[in-house]
Amino acid sequence: MRHSIRFMTLMLCSVAAAASAHAGELPRLRTEDGRHALLVDGKPYLMLGAQVHNSSNYPSVLPQVWPVMQALSANTIEIPVAWEQFEPTEGRFDYSWVDTLLAQARKNDMRVVLLWFGSWKNGDSTYTPEWVKSDTKRFPRLQKRDGRPTTTLSPLGEATLAADRKAFVALMRHLREVDREHTVIMVQVENEIGSHGVARDYSPAAERLFAQQVPEDIRRASGKQSGTWAEVFGKEADQAFAAWTYARFVQEVAVAGKAEKNLPLYTNAAVFDATGTAMAAQVASGGPNWNVLPIWKTAAPALDLIGPDLYLPLEKTYLGLLDRYARPDNALFVPETSNAIWAVRFFWAALGRGAIGWAPFGMDATSYSNYPLGARKLDPATIEAFAAPYRLFRPIARDWAAIASKHPTWGTAKNSAGEDSTSMGSWKISVTYGRNNFDIPWPGMEPPPWAKEPVGGGVVAQLGPNEFLVAGQYSRFQFMPVDPAVNGQIMSAEEGTFIDGRWQASRRWNGDQISYGFNFNEQPALLRVKLSTY
Ligand code: DGJ
Repeated sequence: MRHSIRFMTLMLCSVAAAASAHAGELPRLRTEDGRHALLVDGKPYLMLGAQVHNSSNYPSVLPQVWPVMQALSANTIEIPVAWEQFEPTEGRFDYSWVDTLLAQARKNDMRVVLLWFGSWKNGDSTYTPEWVKSDTKRFPRLQKRDGRPTTTLSPLGEATLAADRKAFVALMRHLREVDREHTVIMVQVENEIGSHGVARDYSPAAERLFAQQVPEDIRRASGKQSGTWAEVFGKEADQAFAAWTYARFVQEVAVAGKAEKNLPLYTNAAVFDATGTAMAAQVASGGPNWNVLPIWKTAAPALDLIGPDLYLPLEKTYLGLLDRYARPDNALFVPETSNAIWAVRFFWAALGRGAIGWAPFGMDATSYSNYPLGARKLDPATIEAFAAPYRLFRPIARDWAAIASKHPTWGTAKNSAGEDSTSMGSWKISVTYGRNNFDIPWPGMEPPPWAKEPVGGGVVAQLGPNEFLVAGQYSRFQFMPVDPAVNGQIMSAEEGTFIDGRWQASRRWNGDQISYGFNFNEQPALLRVKLSTY
């Protein structure tokens, strides 16, 4: 066990030392043995993200953005750059927004994930410049079955692809030129692609393509027999076809952008139901919903990952969707989640699944609210709910990311059962929620005030056979040997943090804090726990 601690310390020290040598290195995604890390300045980085509201992409709004980012202890801001503001006149690019943003982000010690609101934003094409919107001949729209056009651009429009790609290339080239320190660590290509209310383009050109054979690579990736789209995908044919057409478009844009600056690129998914596809044809059809991920992965390999936007306050759906997107071939990143307090607990669940980042949406002081998806009001209590775990992780964002990219992790969020469990190695980990600190059920011995609230969670990283990092809030963690014939005991539980890559204990937890399990209350804490058997 000592051995493993020394190894850990050594490993973390050498990671820290290597970092300075790698400052200036391009951000990139590393995948080893099915675990992922986003490398920023050459070393792992956990994005404690926050996304602003949709219309906060103007210099006039930034004063209402940074104080919220600071209050949150976020280390990464996600913020749009819209095609309509970037290329208001065809061929003339306006870099002023990006330049202002980068300068202020650096002053605020914030990394940036830039969101390219290009041809599609939430399935529609409202962020395109007016010269695109006004020329439906050059930039064709999705057509409904009855031939009527929509406001959404067709992914089959060749001029649309050329124009979007040209603008995106200009953006990435500018980043190459002006962002030598890589303040921008990742770029989102488009936003929540996928049409609503119409399953795909039914234009004559689309119909011709739809009648053809499914390309071999798509068929194979989807595990299907050969045939036309309708033959191969049946009920899901429209959605699958749409996914292929959008993914091909995004691939072209991404490849051209990467040729200018090879940053990690991703796109985000408007997801529905983690278990069925019933709504697939009606909601965000063609977007990278989990059921068409094989199509997206095959047709858009230039994307480093696809991230789910998670707004539904249903535990099974949220956790199920985290599982759908946490894959050996897809690093888990939640680019958007609700900024209502219920969502905080899923931060822990995402971390436990190896997430490289997570970000509540609508985090600025413009006083707009996207309720009921998000908080009705971004009041101090709501900000504090998100800030509490971020404060714990901000100083150790790199340490955690390094550990999670090499060690098994597990996360839990409060559920309606009030308990959760797993086993890691020879230890069973049981978590309970909403119990009083002594687990006394007698009358008068009240549960804690948060017992009925949708709050609480925690995360574990296994450092060695009997050694764990455990962090949590509003939860109790107990460790028992998996084998009931074996007795287990706690050797030590140090509360602490990492400083310059080294574990720094501030005190030991003992007595009331651990006798009934590790009792995490309002203040999130990080423990290094050593166990043994006797
Ligand atoms: C998901 C989108 O990606 C965001 O831009 C925003 O529209 C939210 N939905 C809703 O507030």
